Amino acid sequence: MSRFAVLTSGGDAPGMNAAVRAVVRRGLSKGYEIKGIQRGFAGLFNGSEFLDFNLGSVAGIIHRGGTMLLTARAEEMLQPEGPDRAAKRLFSEGVDGLVVIGGEGSFHGALALQDRGVKTICIPGTIDNDINETDSSIGFDTAVNTILDAINRLRDTATSHERIFLLEVMGRHTGYLALAAGLAGGAESILVPEIKWDLDDICRRLLQGIERQKTHSIIVVAEGTADVFEINKEIRRRIAVETRVTVLGHIQRGGSPSAVDRLLGSRMGAAAADLLIDGKSGLFTAVKGERIEAIPLEESFKNNKPFPKELYELILDLSR
Ligand code: F6P
Repeated sequence: MSRFAVLTSGGDAPGMNAAVRAVVRRGLSKGYEIKGIQRGFAGLFNGSEFLDFNLGSVAGIIHRGGTMLLTARAEEMLQPEGPDRAAKRLFSEGVDGLVVIGGEGSFHGALALQDRGVKTICIPGTIDNDINETDSSIGFDTAVNTILDAINRLRDTATSHERIFLLEVMGRHTGYLALAAGLAGGAESILVPEIKWDLDDICRRLLQGIERQKTHSIIVVAEGTADVFEINKEIRRRIAVETRVTVLGHIQRGGSPSAVDRLLGSRMGAAAADLLIDGKSGLFTAVKGERIEAIPLEESFKNNKPFPKELYELILDLSR
């Protein structure tokens, strides 16, 4: 193999550019030709989406959010003929090794290509941090920090008006983002899909806070748990408090990547290139403690990433 390609797919995440840069520069330094595929897997179904990379192509991107390769959620890959067509396109471009940077959906696409003979290595890139077998994914740390900035700002205004704020954050069906940001931001409560919560209990905690003259409360709500506006309505129906709702939305997905995400992107990108060069396939890069490991792609589909309940309980203890 002398030529491989890299693409970013699904929701963009800060640090993806660091990973692309690392794949390209590691590959080039080992004598490989590297192609960039634009718009994720969708780029495999269009005419002119392949870029020829040289060392300069990835200059000046390590500090930028988003992805220089553009991204998409490719419907074509879900069609019965999709993966066959995509694999054929790669072979016709002389590419038989691919690095896919993205979340779970992107990993499924990668596995379909691997089943058709394309050597494939994945890198977890998603702010949701919902991928099994890895402590973190590229973009998570930056998103947590962006949410913290929002919490700090909300607390200023919440305190001035003695209000309660409900802040909805992303995470798809999971609450890892809400948990980390809620704990680090000193939120009074977090509501996540993984843990059954009780609105009466939350209201009781709010009232206890008011009794001891607390001037603000922040409730972080994971988007996958319930409609934040309904929760707000229910709280106001139960207790006489002044509340406001903020939906942070895509602001939490943009911005310059943190040092943690640049490091993770750089390390995982280089590791992915090394794995392809070593002839490996069907793996993804995972971080476990200080180490980057290669894990079979199938492990990521088991949906059993443990939810750190002890951190959830810590919030209940610390935010009184
Ligand atoms: O997976 C990343 C993510 O930002 C999720 O947290 C969120 O549910 C989803 O993507 C939003 O997708 P879109 O950008 O297509 O609206």
